[in-house]
Amino acid sequence: MNNRTTDAASLKQRIIELRRELKKHNYFYYVLDRPIISDAEYDAMLRELERLETELGEPVPEDSPTRTVGAPPSTAFRPREHGVPMLSLANAFDDEEVYQFDRRVREVLGEENTVVDYLIEPKIDGLAINLRYEAGELVFAATRGDGHTGEDVTDNVRTIEDIPWLLEQQGLPEVLEVRGEVYMSKAAFAELNRKQQLLGERPFANPRNAAAGSLRQLDPKVTASRRLNFFAYGAGLGMELLADRQSTLLQKLRALGFPVQSCEKACDVAGLLSSYQRWQKKRPDMDYEIDGLVYKVDAFAYQERLGSLSRSPRWAIAHKFPAEEVPTKIRDIIWQVGRTGVITPVAVLEPVQVGGATVSRATLHNPSEMQRKGIRIGSRVLVRRAGDVIPEVIRAIDKGTGRTPAIPDACPVCGAAVIREPDEVAIRCSAGLSCPAQLKQSLEHFVSRSAMDLEGFGEKLVARLVDEGLVKSVADLYALDFERLRSWEGMGEKKLANLRMALERSRHPALHRFIYALGIRHVGEVTARMLAERFGSLEALMAADRDSLISIEGVGPEVAESIRHFFSEPHNRETIDSLLERGVLPQAGEAGVAASPKQAPLAGKTVVLTGTLEHFTREQAKERLRRLGAKVSSSVSTKSDWVIAGAKAGSKLEKAKALGIPVADESQLIEWLREAGLE
Ligand code: IVH
Repeated sequence: MNNRTTDAASLKQRIIELRRELKKHNYFYYVLDRPIISDAEYDAMLRELERLETELGEPVPEDSPTRTVGAPPSTAFRPREHGVPMLSLANAFDDEEVYQFDRRVREVLGEENTVVDYLIEPKIDGLAINLRYEAGELVFAATRGDGHTGEDVTDNVRTIEDIPWLLEQQGLPEVLEVRGEVYMSKAAFAELNRKQQLLGERPFANPRNAAAGSLRQLDPKVTASRRLNFFAYGAGLGMELLADRQSTLLQKLRALGFPVQSCEKACDVAGLLSSYQRWQKKRPDMDYEIDGLVYKVDAFAYQERLGSLSRSPRWAIAHKFPAEEVPTKIRDIIWQVGRTGVITPVAVLEPVQVGGATVSRATLHNPSEMQRKGIRIGSRVLVRRAGDVIPEVIRAIDKGTGRTPAIPDACPVCGAAVIREPDEVAIRCSAGLSCPAQLKQSLEHFVSRSAMDLEGFGEKLVARLVDEGLVKSVADLYALDFERLRSWEGMGEKKLANLRMALERSRHPALHRFIYALGIRHVGEVTARMLAERFGSLEALMAADRDSLISIEGVGPEVAESIRHFFSEPHNRETIDSLLERGVLPQAGEAGVAASPKQAPLAGKTVVLTGTLEHFTREQAKERLRRLGAKVSSSVSTKSDWVIAGAKAGSKLEKAKALGIPVADESQLIEWLREAGLE
């Protein structure tokens, strides 16, 4: 570049350019360890900047690359307020709900408006991001959070090639918030999970979780190693200065360098629904996951007149696709023994792509269900995978002439007798933890993310530890013979050190995690948390009698019996004793705190639940809210931050409205969970 810049304006312009460039290279060099220019080129730019800053003679700002060394301190997960709230979308699950939406739109807009243009966009299954540009420069990127404040993920977002750092400035608002979805393509997701499996790590359940997990990394180098993409679908601050309708806004965003999806238009419900049919057919062939379509009233003037409810606009709706159902053939039917000994028929399938993941096994639930559906080896069946749920065989399309396997009377793994409890469809291995299958599953449960979170102890490692007799109970994990492990193929020093560290870090688990990790039948995360809150220590829980257990909300006679039974088993007491002896000391008082702040969009917020929810029981909803960092309270007051209202909500909802407390519905809760990667 020509350095004979003389007049102050072009001098300043060049200084701005150099500062931007150098900041970018600092990021590549210091944050990603992946410089994209040589040291000599960098030094030349830095020297030029120094010279020009002296020539200009104005005070040099603190953050100029001539005054800083390395990258600026990480801003990871700091709260960032959105200029305009980031709303969510109401859902339509069938045609009738789309008709209702359209009727309401026309009603609000008035009789005379018979033509309403809608823009139809695929609904990407990723996570929403707000990109804030000032004077054309990306200043930060934040997750949606609670809609008002999100978490700073700038360093990670900068690794996504689809996202420009700098926008062509002509005609651009001074502050522009670009909104869109960060997602992982089906191919990148499959590759990532292959790698996870090779490394013995847990695979991600779906591309959305993988994308969310990748953006929530403390180390941007990890994010950079994941292939993430971005589609822009909207704007916050500065939107009106860019366009007067959604379709033009998308064109403008594309012109600015953002990837934008191809969209369709319609002016009535018939048009919307025929578009829905078309996209549903296209869906399996798309490079990325979509879970529905979004219908948006195109004109911003209309959008404004329609306004928004507390969390979603009245001018848009998400028309969800039903869970993808894919045909395939059953190659074999095997019997799998679960953690609690339940023996489940599992179909081994010709592998198929369902919901972005390759499915080669699907549950047949239980022997009676398998027989009722007439499923045999060789049947052609439909397989479904809804969200994170394990794949299941829905029904046979062609039963075929193969055989239906006989219900085993001995455990397929250890040979112990099979029992069937009265009133239960399930069959069960009677051997408890002396059955290697049950032991492996118990260990997998013990090490899982929501339990002791022992990273590195994947399925393969656990299986080998059991098969080689190194681990006979969960307590043995804390007395591992690392010398033996060292001789194993693929077990490098780094991996060993990581395993050691994971074990060390887990020595003081929150009491509720520890209780959950024990794998007591009927004690899920919710119950474990309640038990921890009520009893405060492991000793008190172990000594609890039936009445004090039953006095806890949500603990019935069956659960109480299961807890008492668990602690009365000598084998379980021995395991607990050796865990304690080996220095695993559960910590009371942490119940109610989210696993980590990055998963806590409701950290410190007080939330009240009212009415009946569709997807969660009251206890499940409470537990989910706590995992999001919220304190759940039973009464509405000025101290409440949110009220979540389900069907038939009564006086609490009235009170919330009277006090002006924001009211959310169940889909908002689901949205928070999704954003936090917890659903
Ligand atoms: S518009 C006020 N358009 O869906 C409207 N959202 O369930 C805000 N999403 O949080 C969203 N694709 O993360 C919009 N084409 C699209 C979308 C989309 C995916 C996500 C987004 C949002 C969630 C709402």
